Amino acid sequence: MRVMACIEDMRRAARRRVPRMFFEYADHGSYAQETLRVNRSDLERIKLRQRVLVDVVGRDLSTTILGESAALPMMLAPIGLCGMQWGDGEILACRAAQAAGIPFCLSTMSICAIEDVAAAVGKPFWFQLYVMKDRGFVRALVERAIAAKCSALVLTVDLQVLGQRHCDLRNGMTVPPEPRLKNLIDIATKPAWALSVLRGKRKTFGNLAGYVRGMEDVNSLAQWISGQFDPSLSWRDVEWIRDLWPGKLVLKGVLDVEDARRAAKSGAAALVVSNHGGRQLDGAVSSIAALPRIVDAVGAEIEIMFDGGIRSGQDVMRALALGARSCMIGRAFLYGLGAGGEAGVARAIEILKNELDVTMALTGTRRIADIGPHVLAQA
Ligand SMILES: Cc1cc2nc3c(=O)[nH]c(=O)nc-3n(C[C@H](O)[C@H](O)[C@H](O)COP(=O)(O)O)c2cc1C
Repeated sequence: MRVMACIEDMRRAARRRVPRMFFEYADHGSYAQETLRVNRSDLERIKLRQRVLVDVVGRDLSTTILGESAALPMMLAPIGLCGMQWGDGEILACRAAQAAGIPFCLSTMSICAIEDVAAAVGKPFWFQLYVMKDRGFVRALVERAIAAKCSALVLTVDLQVLGQRHCDLRNGMTVPPEPRLKNLIDIATKPAWALSVLRGKRKTFGNLAGYVRGMEDVNSLAQWISGQFDPSLSWRDVEWIRDLWPGKLVLKGVLDVEDARRAAKSGAAALVVSNHGGRQLDGAVSSIAALPRIVDAVGAEIEIMFDGGIRSGQDVMRALALGARSCMIGRAFLYGLGAGGEAGVARAIEILKNELDVTMALTGTRRIADIGPHVLAQA
């Protein structure tokens, strides 16, 4: 893993190792991918302020996230189908996060089930919830997260209908892959991937299989899922979840100040400024453009987390400078997983950590709490 110098190296390695259908599922955004692109270009536009002759010995990258200490101001974002990048991908990513001292968030749409991950790792992890039409299933899912001692529930609020990813449509993305000739040829050229996925505990959505009555076979399970995202999702459901879940609640996918004000009054401990990594509303503003206004409006009332486009420690610095308390890492760890399994995720986290550390040094910063707008060139 040492030859992987940056996240882009990991992306290239993942593209070589993972079948096209699953690599593009991870890499692409919705529709014309405008929001996917501005997530990156708006971050790159923010310039850091170089400072010199400041003693920066003894830098400390630790912080607190939801009141718990964390080695870095980062956590691994909930990502569907990690187990299709590398067999048992959710377990491997969770182990790498916990070894690095940061939270891991398991997606509702994971391949490994909540119980699989709980049995395989040493510490509690977070669980991300999609509210589906079948509220009985949602209630059961929350109860399973409680039984697995998950330490936070992340309620995703920006996906009550699914944004289209053209690549998924064109590639005929299914889980597991349909045995079409095109897919078989692709998989035949990716034997390491095939072996790891074959050896994995599961080949389909672990949190759903066996829990959805009459939907045992994979195709109908996939149909059930696509018909299950609920356009009626509203703030009343947030109250309902608040009552069901006794622990810390995080609302993920807030991009608008008015929504952020409502979120701050909802009883949630934190909100994530996010546009789902440019995979939902195409044409939406970048997450980094939305962040300062939301911090101004509600930063004193609710913990503000950030995601969207983070590919380096410099990007983490930019988000913290604009008021985020921590960053969710999405594709940056997913490329690591596709490239090298657990070691790949560990290396991706290490890359981000080292970049953040050097960036702190070169901006004259010693502690995470000292990062503010003054580290930006325009301040
Ligand atoms: C392949 C993929 C799958 C995702 N699946 C989920 C999911 O199941 N639940 C969720 O809340 N967000 C999901 N997201 C969004 C991420 O949690 C996060 O918001 C996003 O990846 C951040 O953008 P970045 O990848 O540019 O860092 C997914 C993102 C990707 C790339």
